[in-house]
Amino acid sequence: MPDIESLLKEKRTFKPDREFTRQANWNKKQTAEYRAMADKNPERFWAKMAKENVSWFTPWKKVLDWKPPFAKWFVGGKLNVSYNCVDRHLEGENAWRRNKAAIIWEGEPGDTRTITYGELHREICKFANVMKSQGVKKGDRVALYMPMIPELSIAILACTRIGAVHSVVFGGFSAEALRDRINDAGAKLVVTADGGYRRGAPYPLKPAVDEALEGTPSVTSVVTVKRTGEPTRMQAGRDHWWHELTDEASAVCEPAKLDAEHPLFILYTSGTTGKPKGILHTTGGYLTHVTTTAKVLFDLKDSDTFWCTADIGWVTGHSYVVYGILANGATTLMYEGVPTHPGPDRFWDIIERWGVTIFYTAPTAIRTFVRLGDEHPKKHDLSSLRLLGTVGEPINPEAWMWYHRIIGKKKCPIVDTWWQTETGGIMITPLPSSVDTKPGSATNPFPGIDAAIFSEEGNEVDPPNGGYLVIREPWPGMLRGIWGDPKRFKETYWSKYKNIYFTGDGAHRDQDSYFWIMGRVDDVMNISGHRIGTMEVESALVSHTKVAESAVVGRPDSLTGTAIVAFVTPKSGETVDDVLKEELRTHVTKQIGAIAKPKEIRFTDALPKTRSGKIMRRLLRDIASGRSVGDTTTLEDFSVVAKLREGDEA
Ligand code: WT7
Repeated sequence: MPDIESLLKEKRTFKPDREFTRQANWNKKQTAEYRAMADKNPERFWAKMAKENVSWFTPWKKVLDWKPPFAKWFVGGKLNVSYNCVDRHLEGENAWRRNKAAIIWEGEPGDTRTITYGELHREICKFANVMKSQGVKKGDRVALYMPMIPELSIAILACTRIGAVHSVVFGGFSAEALRDRINDAGAKLVVTADGGYRRGAPYPLKPAVDEALEGTPSVTSVVTVKRTGEPTRMQAGRDHWWHELTDEASAVCEPAKLDAEHPLFILYTSGTTGKPKGILHTTGGYLTHVTTTAKVLFDLKDSDTFWCTADIGWVTGHSYVVYGILANGATTLMYEGVPTHPGPDRFWDIIERWGVTIFYTAPTAIRTFVRLGDEHPKKHDLSSLRLLGTVGEPINPEAWMWYHRIIGKKKCPIVDTWWQTETGGIMITPLPSSVDTKPGSATNPFPGIDAAIFSEEGNEVDPPNGGYLVIREPWPGMLRGIWGDPKRFKETYWSKYKNIYFTGDGAHRDQDSYFWIMGRVDDVMNISGHRIGTMEVESALVSHTKVAESAVVGRPDSLTGTAIVAFVTPKSGETVDDVLKEELRTHVTKQIGAIAKPKEIRFTDALPKTRSGKIMRRLLRDIASGRSVGDTTTLEDFSVVAKLREGDEA
């Protein structure tokens, strides 16, 4: 019996668009060459990428020093990330980029700012000098608790300029979560804002900082950006306004020459249980990984306007709003607010007005748009788009098809990119110029990435059976540890298999060796001894014409051990009743088999999700089995839980 069974059979394939392939940064031939090089000698491949895509002050002496589970990449090399993201676009043959837009920013109320590479350079230098004046030195930690405004990108890059280590704490987190993260990292400085805009109204941030700072001995000063202009308490001696300090600061600041393994940032991920882990990334390997993947997968050109909708509070925003995009000299779009304000077409409106060419978003957003109806994107001219991407969760094949037809007009390649906070950059993904795509599959590992599927015992699993997704060899963007906790680092990622990175995801490969991610292994359901992942059952449900989104979980059952409970969000305007429930159960049986037929179906107009858009299946498991609902601190919308419970009694 395989560790996870695969039931879903997806037959559709899509060839790369010929026009696209002809103009791609990596055409078919080049891709084949690089792949062959990487297969034969991954270190050689990554060294070539580091040379081609990153600027170094001092070359490295050794590509990789691997003492499992600790890796050092580009040993002895020296570089600066802000230099790579900005200065080098003002020099030599790139000097014309001085007045090119680096950041196009749009606030939720509709205010906009365009910041050129030249301006960005001045702002970074100024804020780097401000941080120095506040006593921040190389290696010190700086916590950033901010809305999606340009100052967040500026502060991040200013940290990298002087070798300070940033820890971005998502602005939706509570004062308590902020305090824990500040204390774990021992941050000296906090950068924040009076507030931001969300769902049509200002929300405050600074008060949460004040509350957090009641228990953070390491913090000596706070810099606050004035965004909303709401009344804000400032504590004399500790608190400063961003505009006052930067007004006085010099716009000259030499970039520090930092070691390739100098810590770049800490980013906390909650995981399923326990205290958040401070995932540590370093300088040279990370920058090589994100710059290379951005150039190849998003096919970045000088003429592109790239929009990744993720908040910079998540790794997606670090790697593909800021670092990977600016290092390529492209234009990155930043949007402050929610997708549905003032109307359900805000995203499509932004794409039309700015002429966005590359759009990178999450399956959860796509399923929301499916539910809201096709009329909203159809109102807008989306013809500027030339490439689409997804990240964060498995994308159900029907959601992929919708993205392909309604947004991509059947001409844009879609890159379904699998990766993690821990991996730093994209790991499994189609190369848009040369890989046939299949809806729902992230296809193949990026060159130089050695992904495989293992059984419980550590043997490679034969297609099409499922198992555990692992990475067998170190890669440049890999996490270097958990801040202050090497023991937990070893236990979490390196104890299941010897010297092999365990991702925590279930996956299988098909007869063409394509990877299909099946969800977190913690969510696998054991039905009468058959171990089934959540993604396939959810995809079967979403393939019904009346369904927009679904989440399935297991609950204890005296007969089958576990029974499947499906939470289903219908498309807007669909009526739901017992007839539809039966229809859906039959539909799942037809699509993937009787073993996966949900025992119970519950309709809901929203699913509980984290602010980063992940469905909280743990919480749904509690609801499905009638247990009291546990920790909800990361829940996006609290009213959802109440509604799901009501559904229970109906
Ligand atoms: C987990 C990592 C990577 C940036 C955002 C999330 C899931 C991510 C995909 C994908 C299927 C995916 C995995 C992974 N995931 N991308 N394309 N297909 N699953 O970062 O919060 O660290 O989450 O997200 O389960 O392990 P993260």
